[in-house]
Amino acid sequence: MGTHKVGYLIGSLATQSINRKLAKALVRLAPPALEMEEISFKDLPLYSYDYDSDYPPAARAFKDAIARMDAVLFVTPEYNRSIPGALKNAIDWASRPYGQNAFTRKPSAVIGTSIGAIGTAICQQHLRSVLGFCNSPQMNAPEAYIQFKDGLITDDGEVTVESTREFLRGYMAAFADFIERVYTALPKEA
Ligand code: FNR
Repeated sequence: MGTHKVGYLIGSLATQSINRKLAKALVRLAPPALEMEEISFKDLPLYSYDYDSDYPPAARAFKDAIARMDAVLFVTPEYNRSIPGALKNAIDWASRPYGQNAFTRKPSAVIGTSIGAIGTAICQQHLRSVLGFCNSPQMNAPEAYIQFKDGLITDDGEVTVESTREFLRGYMAAFADFIERVYTALPKEA
């Protein structure tokens, strides 16, 4: 298996984000074949197609960063039973102008954590619908709905519960396998 660059987007802008903790854990647990890099979107203005002829620098840099990646991992909370607005805005930027969608043929996976028991399940379903429209091949299984309990993941991304740690390690291994399969079936254009 070759190495793959994975850009990860954390759907929360909060400094104490539990999804940022989860993302740190996933970086620690990823197999060596995955080179993990955060793609920040906190400086993006709100998207409008008025910008399509001339993206502002922050949006150009964000879209270029997605384009450079072999795959994208979404680590996101659920806000009001859906995708946090800032994350949806970022996806809209990367998907445009029409015909220059940075997600086309780029493998993706979705994971998230919430305090409530459903563990971001509804947000993930909405996000899968968006990624489907953006023509991103998505890892269907395993799914991962993580309920966050106090102390589950430290600020440094150490998972304190062994069964959760091993589940998340397996999730990242499965994502590496999935990316490899996608590029075997759909080789990158030269
Ligand atoms: C929430 N929260 C929440 N939780 C959930 O399970 N389903 C939901 O629909 C919502 N909705 C929601 C809306 C808004 C605006 C906020 C701020 C929060 C609670 C949420 O799971 C909790 O705040 C987590 O800490 C959010 O993850 P981050 O931002 O800490 O990563």
